[in-house]
Amino acid sequence: VLKVQAGQPKAEIQSTMWGIFFEDINFAADGGIYAELIKNRSFEFSDPLMGWKQYESDRFSRNKQSGSILIINRVQENATNPHVARVSVNTDKAFVISNEGFRGIGIKKDAQYDFSIWASQQEGSESKLLFEVNAQGKVIGQASVTISGKAWKKYTASFKATDTAAKAQATLHFTGKGVTDIDMVSLFPQDTWKQRPGGFRSDLVQLLADMKPGFIRFPGGCIVEGFHLSTRYQWKKTIGAPEERESMINRWNTEFKHRLAPDYYQSFGVGFYEYFQLAEDIGASPLPILSCGMACQFNSAEVAPLDALDPYVQDALDLIEFANGPIDSPWGKIRATMGHPAPFNLKFIGVGNEQWGEQYIERYKIFTAAIKSKYPDIKVVSSAGPFPEGELFAYASNELKTLHADIVDEHYYNNPQWFFKNAGRYDNYDRSGPKIFAGEFAAQSVGTTSPENKNNWLCALSEAAFMTGLERNADMVTMASYAPLFAHAEGWQWTPDLIWFDNLNAYGTPNYYVQKLFSTNKGTNVLPVLLNNQPVEGQQELYASAAWDKNTKEIIVKVVNAGTTATKTEFVLEGSGKYAATAKKITLVNADPNAVNSFESPKLIAPQESTTPVAGKKVSVSLAPQSFTILKIQV
Ligand code: AHR
Repeated sequence: VLKVQAGQPKAEIQSTMWGIFFEDINFAADGGIYAELIKNRSFEFSDPLMGWKQYESDRFSRNKQSGSILIINRVQENATNPHVARVSVNTDKAFVISNEGFRGIGIKKDAQYDFSIWASQQEGSESKLLFEVNAQGKVIGQASVTISGKAWKKYTASFKATDTAAKAQATLHFTGKGVTDIDMVSLFPQDTWKQRPGGFRSDLVQLLADMKPGFIRFPGGCIVEGFHLSTRYQWKKTIGAPEERESMINRWNTEFKHRLAPDYYQSFGVGFYEYFQLAEDIGASPLPILSCGMACQFNSAEVAPLDALDPYVQDALDLIEFANGPIDSPWGKIRATMGHPAPFNLKFIGVGNEQWGEQYIERYKIFTAAIKSKYPDIKVVSSAGPFPEGELFAYASNELKTLHADIVDEHYYNNPQWFFKNAGRYDNYDRSGPKIFAGEFAAQSVGTTSPENKNNWLCALSEAAFMTGLERNADMVTMASYAPLFAHAEGWQWTPDLIWFDNLNAYGTPNYYVQKLFSTNKGTNVLPVLLNNQPVEGQQELYASAAWDKNTKEIIVKVVNAGTTATKTEFVLEGSGKYAATAKKITLVNADPNAVNSFESPKLIAPQESTTPVAGKKVSVSLAPQSFTILKIQV
């Protein structure tokens, strides 16, 4: 018997309770959510022609004679985007270069595409540029521009694709004689999220919007820190016109030698303005995390000395002004110029990611003092070291408690058994300490960070069990997010991941549906639950939590049966309310704990809805083995 004390709404469940963690890992930004289809568009990779080649097929075997390509470094003129490609055409035959895209270019039949290129032509030159998209020897899209004049200009042309291809390539055919400098070669679908030119892949953003996340944390993760301080994420370099943003090697470029991604860079086409805009679009509270002046402690021991921390702290203060400041403030003005005069309503800022020890605490204190003195209402999210066990973690937790930190970011990567076992982790947590942000978690099917990890049903089920514990303790836990969020099927560095995509398609894992179900059935207040008159912490392999939604007047009960047999459970609603005659039942289940969703069967494990009778104050349900069930009862 599972009793829900329906008449006793307790702690408020924060609107931020269930959110998302975005990091540019696994090609999540460039090659992922950012709909740009050309890789190394501005020739700024450390090998400036990576991703590009002179076309060697028979059709263009004349290349060698017909022209050449040279990279020019004009750092004096343009410090943030110094490279341009100089294309010389010396006969009237076509000189062709091609771009391979991000593991190929995904093109959809009948969709419209926008091609653009920045170019400057030397005097006396005359050249035409034909842009094509080719797949398996067939042209499936075409546009041309006529380049003229020495002044740098952006040339644009659009076309409709005549076929679908997951691995097309783009070719640029130069004809005429002369020398043309080119930069920012770009191809976007017109059908981006909210149809914004140069915007986001709509299918990927839709999957996020469907989760109705309470917050979005960005830009990471380790990417915030960098291997070295010089490669930390610096938000000021990610705003303004895309062609003026300075590209940088991605922190995940060299990680995990067996999954090397030498072509992983950050164009910063997705920068802080875009992150704030995304947050607003999907109704999520923005949660930026900034460098605290320490490089990733897993990689290097580099720290900024305390007397050189000012620029880092200033970045945090300026970011708050960029997000919230009036349009006549220096940073608010930049936001307005970029197209968003209204503030972005920033309420949280994170200082450091997975950092620990005295060095972190010293820096955290300096940041917090500066932020609170200028912006007392901003909540500071602090790091608590690598994982939630051990001395380092205990040290950070104690210090942060003493310092009355607002919110501590705890991360949990562990096996499913850990998640089941820790469903009661916060039941007896010290209520006087900081609030908890379960900022990164994911059950690992094989071993933490093993490349063999799968997003299987057992992992998702264990996360659901753990999350019932987070929800029961919503007075302590105010934010939670699975990590990482996205992975390109052919470009990942880390598994498991919440959403998998390729150049054309995407699917949510069972873990995605767990996150989505919690978030879209959140409720407003915790309701106490008792299993056989004892608080629920996983007895008899049942895990449960309940919430009251004061807006929809519903009782929402979430229960995980982790056992291998069906369990007949009687839900007793203790309260004076009159209940509807039927309850809505949402189930996520699979008989095989190793089952996964895939491109072929994207919804093998997906929520199924039905109704079940309510007899007075009782609902009898047979909980399938290894299932996650939500019951919604209207009062
Ligand atoms: O989510 C992947 C990585 O795991 C994050 O970048 C880091 O914070 C954690 O170690």
